[in-house]
Amino acid sequence: METKKKSSFTGSLGFVLAAAGSAVGVGNIWRFPYLAAKDGGGLFIIIYVALVFTFGFTLLVTDVAIGRRTKTNALHAFAAMNRKWKFLGCLTFLVPIIIMTYYSVIGGWITKYLAVYLAGHGTDAAQEGYFTSFITSEVSPIVFMLLFLAVTAFIVYSGVEKGIERFAKVVMPGLLIMIVIIAIYSLTLQFKDGNGNIRTGLQGLSVYLIPNLDGMTVKRFLEILLDAMSQLFFSLSVSMGIMITYGSYVKKEVNLSQSLAQIEFFDTFVAFLAGLMIIPAVYVFFGAEGMASGPSLMFVSLPKVFEAMGWIGNVIGIVFFVMVLFAALTSCISIMETLVANFMDIFHGSRKKTSLIIGVASAVAAAIICMGYNVFYFELSLPNGQTAQLLDLMDYVSNSFLMPFISLLTCIFVGWIIKPKWICEEMESSGHPFRRKKLYIFMIRYVVPIMMAVLFLQSAGIFTMVQSLFV
Ligand code: ALA
Repeated sequence: METKKKSSFTGSLGFVLAAAGSAVGVGNIWRFPYLAAKDGGGLFIIIYVALVFTFGFTLLVTDVAIGRRTKTNALHAFAAMNRKWKFLGCLTFLVPIIIMTYYSVIGGWITKYLAVYLAGHGTDAAQEGYFTSFITSEVSPIVFMLLFLAVTAFIVYSGVEKGIERFAKVVMPGLLIMIVIIAIYSLTLQFKDGNGNIRTGLQGLSVYLIPNLDGMTVKRFLEILLDAMSQLFFSLSVSMGIMITYGSYVKKEVNLSQSLAQIEFFDTFVAFLAGLMIIPAVYVFFGAEGMASGPSLMFVSLPKVFEAMGWIGNVIGIVFFVMVLFAALTSCISIMETLVANFMDIFHGSRKKTSLIIGVASAVAAAIICMGYNVFYFELSLPNGQTAQLLDLMDYVSNSFLMPFISLLTCIFVGWIIKPKWICEEMESSGHPFRRKKLYIFMIRYVVPIMMAVLFLQSAGIFTMVQSLFV
C-alpha cells in the first residue's frame, strides 16, 4: 500500500528559519517597542529577556516536543497522549482560527502603507486622521487584506518544503539585514525642536536601554511583568498549536535543544532591534511624549517620524514596511499552515484543496473583521478595562483569555499527568543532550502553572472584580 509521505522541513536550518519566521511578526516589530516605551525601557527588556529564557523556553519546548513525538497537530496530539485530554487539543486549535481572522487584516494595513510609500506618498500617511480614515473606509482595507491573504495562501498551498521553508530562507536573512540598517540609521539621527533643544539618537538609545524606575510600586511592577508575559506568548507563537504543527515537521535527527535556543534568541533579538530602530527615532522627533502613543505607534507615529526625516524618510518608510510585511507574512503563513494541517487531518483532503478552502473561509472572516470599523462598529468595554472593536475583541479572546488558559492546562497535563520525562525523552531522542533540563522540569511543574493562573485571572479581569467587591 502506498503511504502518504509526511511533510517535513529539510533539516535544522529550515526548521529554525521557518519557526523563527512564525515567531518574528508584528508582535516583535510593533508590540514590543511600544510596550518597552510604556513599561520603563530597560526594565521591561530585562524582565522580558529573563522570561523568554525561562517561561518562553518551557512553553516552546513543550509545544515542539509534543508535535515531534506525536507527529501530528494539536487537535489529535493531546488525544494521542491521553484520550481524556482531547478537549485541550480542540481548545488549542481554536486559537489559530481566531488569530487568522484578524492577522490578515493587519497584514492588509501593512500592505497598504507599503503601497503608499512605494508610490512616494509617505507624507499623506503622516497626516492627522489618515489611519482612521483608511481603516474605517469600506473597500480599501478589504482589497489590501485580500492581497496579503492571497500571498499567504499561495505559499501554504505550495507546501512545507517548497513553500514555507523556501520562503523563510530568503525572507528571514533579508529582514535581519533591513532591521539592522534602519536601527543604525536611527541612532545617527538628531533634531532641534521649536525650543532650540537638540535631541539625538543616542539619547533615545539611553531612554530605551536604561531602566526607568520612577514611581515604581509593586502593582506597577506586576503590570509590567504581566505585559511582558502576554507579549511572550504572542511573540513566540506558543500555546496556539503552531509550534506543535511545526514540531511535527521536524526530523528525528535534529538537535531540538539547540534549535529551540536559536529560535528564542532570534525572536528576542529581532524584538530588541525593533525597539532600537523605533524608540530612538520617535524620541528624536517627538521627545518623551511621542513614546506614549501606544498601539498606534506603527501606523500613526512612525509615518510622522519618516516625514520629519525629509526626503530620505520615504526610502526608510519603504524599507521599513517591506520588512514588516516579511515578518507578518511568515507569521500569517504559520497560522494558516496550522489550520490547513489540522483540517487535512480531519477531512483527509489534499493540501491544495484544503488550502484553497481555508483561504476563501479566511477571506470571508477577515472581511467581517474589516467591517468592524464601519458596518459592524461597536465599542465594548473589556474585563481588562480596554475599549474594543471587533478586531480587539478577537485579539483579547485569543491572547489574553485563551492562551494563558491553554498554557495553564498544558502545564498541568504535561507536568503532572504525562510527566516531564515524556518531553525530556523526545528532546534527547536525537542523541543530543537536553540542556536546561532541570530548569524545564521545575518550570513546567511549579512556576509556569502558577504564573499562568495569575495572568489568566488578571487579564480576564477577575482580580479587578474581586478588588471592587472589597472597596
Ligand atoms: N508570533 C507572531 C507575532 O509575533 C504571531 O506576530
